[in-house]
Amino acid sequence: MIKVSIDGHLHDEKDAVISVFDRGFLYGDSVYEVMRTSGDYLVGRDYHLDRLEQSAHGIGLVLPPRQALIASMETTLASFDQSDAYVRLIVTRGSGPLGLDTSLADNPRVVIIAQSLKLPPEQHYIEGVRIAIVDVRRNVKDALNPAIKSGNYLNNILALSEGKKQGAEEAIMCNMLGCIAEGSTSNIFMIKDGHIGTPSAESGILKGVTRQAIMTLAYAMKQPVTESLITPDELKAADEAFLTSTIRGIIPVSHIDNKPLNAPGEVTLTLMTAYNDYLAQVATGKEP
Ligand SMILES: Cc1ncc(COP(=O)(O)O)c(C=O)c1O
Repeated sequence: MIKVSIDGHLHDEKDAVISVFDRGFLYGDSVYEVMRTSGDYLVGRDYHLDRLEQSAHGIGLVLPPRQALIASMETTLASFDQSDAYVRLIVTRGSGPLGLDTSLADNPRVVIIAQSLKLPPEQHYIEGVRIAIVDVRRNVKDALNPAIKSGNYLNNILALSEGKKQGAEEAIMCNMLGCIAEGSTSNIFMIKDGHIGTPSAESGILKGVTRQAIMTLAYAMKQPVTESLITPDELKAADEAFLTSTIRGIIPVSHIDNKPLNAPGEVTLTLMTAYNDYLAQVATGKEP
């Protein structure tokens, strides 16, 4: 089932259309968030909305008020009769005559797509997935900063195609210094000798909402996560590694390029359990 809200009007999938002059379509001139529900609640909703605001600020886009966005998401979800939903909230700069100049845009357009949540296959959680460190680099922070979740994902699409050609489920991009940044739609963590590490913000990443939730859970378990620059050799020498994203939660990594890893390792399993408990708590309406 799919429901789409466009500027507050609800549509079924086949009627959900916007202008070809929308700048999101023409130039990727938009920002977005992907959320999921647990029970009737959006997991990490306020963190996602904080990041949407930061992304909008990063591209000089003025968002509609937060309460209006929340109300639209709630109306869309209320029209959607399944419990676990995927919710994509997109705000484009709007439509206008052709041309890059942002002053050509009319008003921001808000599109919300709600559909059934489709988690990765169970096997991915049990056996882990292969990841490939690809040649496509994460774009530099001084260009389109990876911290901005914009509608322009072509770089990540190219990275994923390269990874898929190598038989990997996810592609890991390095930054221009050759250090590990992140996956095409995920953050990465590694465990070495019991210590958990993840690429720092300086590495040029999107700071994942799930990444932050895992860091908070790990801290509470007295296993703080170190954020640093990580080289591909360091990552490949890990005992365990895992990917995080809203839609996947935690996915263990079974191979980096062709190097096998312990999947899921002990630390990864502990965090997977803690994250599932966290989701169960969100479903009760008491997000920690
Ligand atoms: C480039 C990138 N990094 C990381 C993530 C994970 O972010 P989150 O945990 O907020 O879903 C995503 C999610 O789509 C992403 O696109």
